Amino acid sequence: MIDNFIYGTPTQLRFGKGVIKDLPEVLSQYGKRVLMTYGGGSIKKMGLYDEVLRLLKDFTVVELPGIEPNPKYDPSVITGAKLCKEHKIDVILSVGGGSVLDCSKAISVCAKYDGEGWDLISGKVKAKAALPIVDILTLAATGSEYDCGCVISNTAILDKRGYLDELMFPAVSFLDPQYTFSVSAWQTACGTADAINHVLEQFFSFPNSLFNDGIMIAALRSLMTNVKIAIKEPTNYAARSELMYVCSWGCNGILANGSGYSGWPMHSIEHALSAYFDITHGAGLAIITPRWMQEILSERTVERFVTLGKDLFGFDKKLSDKEMAQKVIDEFYAFFESIGIPMHLGTLGVKEEAIEDMADHILANDDTSQDWAYVPLDKAALVRILKASM
Ligand code: NZQ
Ligand code: ZN
Repeated sequence: MIDNFIYGTPTQLRFGKGVIKDLPEVLSQYGKRVLMTYGGGSIKKMGLYDEVLRLLKDFTVVELPGIEPNPKYDPSVITGAKLCKEHKIDVILSVGGGSVLDCSKAISVCAKYDGEGWDLISGKVKAKAALPIVDILTLAATGSEYDCGCVISNTAILDKRGYLDELMFPAVSFLDPQYTFSVSAWQTACGTADAINHVLEQFFSFPNSLFNDGIMIAALRSLMTNVKIAIKEPTNYAARSELMYVCSWGCNGILANGSGYSGWPMHSIEHALSAYFDITHGAGLAIITPRWMQEILSERTVERFVTLGKDLFGFDKKLSDKEMAQKVIDEFYAFFESIGIPMHLGTLGVKEEAIEDMADHILANDDTSQDWAYVPLDKAALVRILKASM
């Protein structure tokens, strides 16, 4: 069934080789004063930084470098908002991965707000305005380039918050897969694991539909096939281009129009892990995925596993539902391991002593125990999943 829904993504995607040549024309629509945001130096190594500055020779460019993975409210968002106000910035240009773009989105609303920016990010106050954002993406993963969300860490209070507001849709996203050739095998694996998880967070829902199942299974097949090629051959354009395009569909809702809302429980759990231990988002998700699946497997949910078993993995239809479900869980575990993700949180530095605390934090932030969730998770369930992931 396709239930009632509202859908709209105003972002323009400019996809393919060399699309960046139109950057000056695109930015000019918004003004001449640009805040260029970027991370720890990958864009300099690949020559993109020089290329952007060459294209923007007729613009006033103010730079905000050093945005970290799991981007931090303090200093990055605070500094960026201050720069926008001081330099009367017209448009933000994000050059990098999801963290740079998420930070830029948070800056875009904080720059138009006179109070404490965290009040917006934590949902206490609704933003009224935002600066426009244009991005050049260099890592296929989050889907931030095609959605209106950002995820920001506040280390002072051990918090990592997902924040959604339609004001933060990028105006234009430049997606040239060649800029992802230099992404390491580890980040390629983690980015793809993130995108796989975005699909699964939406696949496990009720009601669902044949059509949405079909798109999501196609997405999973593409991600799981192409990540292996891209790890082996980092400059394989065919693989990198599919990864980039499919990842962009991850979080803007298009995969699950008319399906039930699952509550995105694995993301709730992972955000606490990154807040406490600054781990890589996709790695945390890959480790949690099979343990969450094991926790929620029941007579009510088994049909979702059976569909994946038959239509994604092509398992023998004569298997019992229970056998099929177990094979699906084992297959995801083996797949993530095969692309180089260590399948235990302890290996990433997560400490067992923090589990109870993290479970409380998850409930306080996202309340995964609510009835509207596909499978509500109370504290005991969260603790079981985290312990099994160690
Ligand atoms: O900082 P630099 O030097 O640029 O290096 C980055 C970083 O170290 C590097 N990198 C990026 N592009 C590269 C490259 N290295 C070589 N060549 C390139 N072309 O990769 C490292 C990781 O970058 P990051 O931006 O952190 O990765 P990703 O895109 O996976 O973003 C992760 C963040 O996004 C959030 C996550 O929680 C996490 O904070 N998410 C955002 C979402 C959204 N807005 O919709 C949804 C997701 O579920 C997710 O929560
Ligand atoms: Zn994610």
